[in-house]
Amino acid sequence: MEIAYSLSMALQSHQPLIIVTIITLLSLLAVRSFFKRSHISNASASSTSACKEEAKEATHSSSCNGTSDSAAFLNGDTFGPAEKGMMSADVAKVVAERQSGASMMEQLVPEITTHALSYLDYPSLCRLSMTNSLMRKAANDDNAWKALYHKDFTLEQDSVTPVNGWKAYYAATRAIMNVNAEFFNIIRDRSLPAMSHIWLNADYIKCVHASGELFSGYNAVIQSWQLAFNWEQGFDFQVRDVRARVLTDMAWVTMKTYVDLDNGAFNMTNVYEFHQGRWYLVHHHSSVMLADGDMEQQIIHG
Ligand SMILES: *[C@@H]1O[C@H](CO)[C@@H](O)[C@H](O)[C@H]1NC(C)=O
Ligand SMILES: *[C@@H]1O[C@H](CO)[C@@H](O)[C@H](O)[C@H]1NC(C)=O
Repeated sequence: MEIAYSLSMALQSHQPLIIVTIITLLSLLAVRSFFKRSHISNASASSTSACKEEAKEATHSSSCNGTSDSAAFLNGDTFGPAEKGMMSADVAKVVAERQSGASMMEQLVPEITTHALSYLDYPSLCRLSMTNSLMRKAANDDNAWKALYHKDFTLEQDSVTPVNGWKAYYAATRAIMNVNAEFFNIIRDRSLPAMSHIWLNADYIKCVHASGELFSGYNAVIQSWQLAFNWEQGFDFQVRDVRARVLTDMAWVTMKTYVDLDNGAFNMTNVYEFHQGRWYLVHHHSSVMLADGDMEQQIIHG
C-alpha cells in the first residue's frame, strides 16, 4: 500500500518522466513474459485457451501469495532467527516472482495501472494489448478507454454509459471525427464529387448555409454546394471545439469554424446516419453570419 501510495504521489508530481519510466518497465516486463508464455504455449495444441488458463492461474497464485509475502517482507524485523531464515526464502521467492514479470503487474494497484495506461495514445494501447493476455486484459479495461476518450475527444459525456463499453464508443467516435474532418477537407478542396459522395442520397436531407438559406433534398443540397464552390473564393478556416455524440446508427457533431480568430465563429451542427457499413451526412446547419451593425436590427425584426 505504501509503495502504491508513494507511486501515486510521484505520478502526480513528476508525471511525464515517471510515466515514461513505468510504461517502459511495464512494456519490457510484458514482452518478457510474452516470450515465456509463448514458449510454454507452443507446447500445447490450443495456444489461445492455454494462454487464458495460464493468465487465470497467474492471477490466482501471485495475487494471494504475492501479497502475504510482501507483508512478511515489510514486517521482517519482528521475527526471530528461525523465521528470518524462512523469510529470506520468501524474499527469494518474491524476487523470483517479480522477475517473472506477471506478478509485478499484479502487484500494481489497478487504479495505477489504469492511470499509467491513460498516458498511452490509441495506437500504443492497441499494440500493448497484443503483447500478452495480461496486457490485453489491462489494455481492454473500460476505464482506460474512458480516460483515453476524455483525453482525445471531450471531457463532456462523463455520465454516458456506452452500450458496448468505452472501447467500442471510442472507435465509433473516432470514425465519426474522421468523416467530419473529411467534410471540411472537401470544402477546402472544393470538390463536388467528394461532396456528393459524403451526403446520403435521400429526399429528407437538409442543409442550412451560413447565408441562412435552407436546401432540402439531395439534388438541391448538392446544387447549393456547387454554387458555393463556384462563387466563393477558397478560404482558409479553422475548426475548433468538435464534439461528437454517437448512437448505434446516428451521430451528431457540433463545432465552431473560424475564418479568422478575431471575428466570431460560425457555430455548426452536422448529423450523420449509418447505412450499409458507412456514415453519411444527412444534415448540416451553419449559424447565420450577421454583417456588422445588423445584429440589433436582426434581433429586433427576427
Ligand atoms: C500459495 O503458495 C502455497 C505454497 O507456497 C500454496 O500451498 C498455496 O496454495 C498458494 N495459495 C494460492 C491461493 O495459490
Ligand atoms: C457562435 O456562438 C458563440 C458563443 O459560443 C457566439 O458568441 C457567436 O456569436 C456565435 N456565432 C454566430 C455566427 O452565431
